[in-house]
Amino acid sequence: MQLELNWLRQRLTGDPLMLRHIDAALEIGTGAMGALRRILSDLRPGVLDHLGLWAALESLLEETEGRSGLRCTLVCPAEIERCRLGRDAEIAVYRIAQEVLTNVQRHAGAGRVWLVTEALGRDLRIEIRDDGRGMLVPAQPTSFGLLGMHERARAIGGDLGIASRPGEGTTISLRLPAALVGGAGR
Ligand SMILES: Nc1ncnc2c1ncn2[C@@H]1O[C@H](COP(=O)(O)OP(=O)(O)OP(=O)(O)O)[C@@H](O)[C@H]1O
Ligand SMILES: [Mg+2]
Repeated sequence: MQLELNWLRQRLTGDPLMLRHIDAALEIGTGAMGALRRILSDLRPGVLDHLGLWAALESLLEETEGRSGLRCTLVCPAEIERCRLGRDAEIAVYRIAQEVLTNVQRHAGAGRVWLVTEALGRDLRIEIRDDGRGMLVPAQPTSFGLLGMHERARAIGGDLGIASRPGEGTTISLRLPAALVGGAGR
């Protein structure tokens, strides 16, 4: 459409009103392309494909720190940094981390957050902890953020736990059985 409109525009130099309308249509096209790019990168952040999960998490933490002033720390040992988890698991972990960090910013009133990864034999544990106000953990989550996290974890064969008490911060921990099999090759 942009190409065709540009073609028309070059040939309609005489009529200012017509030109104005073509320019407006071109602008709508440019806006739509931008929106499409944003939606695509929201569905699957490019950084996951290009740099892998660990670098994507690092940049998510940096962005969060830059935007909110929350001090963010990533702990990721070299043995874990060498592992790829596979496409579905990486996107699920990334989305869970996004939701946890959004919750920390919206609800926790925290000053610091730590994302710690740890190998437990062949299992992988990822923990996100904040030093904020904490909460009473619902026995059965009914709100979409927490529910979504549990569902994403289950979908990739993992287990998600929430530990929190009022005044004592919140820790979300995700355990992925046998995620570290195969090392860097996966
Ligand atoms: N890190 C946290 N510190 C304190 N309270 C939290 C934290 N994370 C979640 N909560 C509490 O748990 C509730 C449920 O979280 P959940 O993410 O499910 O919903 P939400 O963030 O309110 O809405 P949304 O559906 O947009 O995610 C929050 O409303 C908040 O009260
Ligand atoms: Mg939420």
